[in-house]
Amino acid sequence: MKDADPTQFRWLAAQAVAREAGALARRRFFDSSFKVGFKGPQDYLTEVDGETEELIAARLHEAFSHDGFIGEETAGRPMREGGVVWVVDPIDGTANFARGIPHFCVSIACVLEGFIEVGVIYDPVRDELFAARRGAGAFLNGTPIKPSEATSLTNSTVEVGWNMRAGASKYLDLIRRVTLWGAAPFRTGSGALGLAYVAAGRRDGYIEHHMNAWDCLAAALLVQEAGGYVSNFLAGEGLTKGNPIIACAQGVKDALISAVELEGIVL
Ligand code: IPD
Ligand code: CA
Ligand code: CA
Repeated sequence: MKDADPTQFRWLAAQAVAREAGALARRRFFDSSFKVGFKGPQDYLTEVDGETEELIAARLHEAFSHDGFIGEETAGRPMREGGVVWVVDPIDGTANFARGIPHFCVSIACVLEGFIEVGVIYDPVRDELFAARRGAGAFLNGTPIKPSEATSLTNSTVEVGWNMRAGASKYLDLIRRVTLWGAAPFRTGSGALGLAYVAAGRRDGYIEHHMNAWDCLAAALLVQEAGGYVSNFLAGEGLTKGNPIIACAQGVKDALISAVELEGIVL
């Protein structure tokens, strides 16, 4: 099977690993006995982030020992020239996880030669598995998903992702712009789920000044395969240093891009 269609095999493996890792995170979330610390101001880290990433890295290494690995919490394995690299966020929404808020997910993407081939996001509390394969569509628990039919920002909801990397004044400006254009701004603390919700039509858009590849690659493929718009996140050094991101329903693409004027975005 691996030889017959390696991408199909990776797609199925990513879903199985995301479910297993999600089950571990869910169990640890509900037993609440984990230690919580900080990597920096407002940057939570729990011991479950590391445990979950170790499980994912081990499973992927067992199945694909030559593939590269970039994870948020570990040093990773280098990608071979022209090879495959897995990009993993073991828990996206760690601040929620740490404070007992059941809104977080596991995110696993697989990149080959500059294309995101596989994107899987698993929300273990709601048992929702979002999965996309390049050219083959986007699904929620096996059912195809699509973005909303929104055509104007005035009835739209847009998640405005926040982090300490961009700075307070830039964030406030983004919120101001989105709100002045009539959209309802949200921030729910898991960028990966926020983007997956755009793919599924639950939100009309998602924007953030800077995300890292592990936060958003799986979700970017979900939006693209569902038929939505997503900016070119892998442009330049996006894979290793991150980029700004805009994702939305096609009907609000032009309005959202001109409303937010996101610096450094590659459309
Ligand atoms: C963060 C969340 C947050 C987003 C940040 C991410 P983490 O990831 O996705 O919603 O706005 O950019 O860093 O720390 O929960 O894995
Ligand atoms: Ca993240
Ligand atoms: Ca994380």
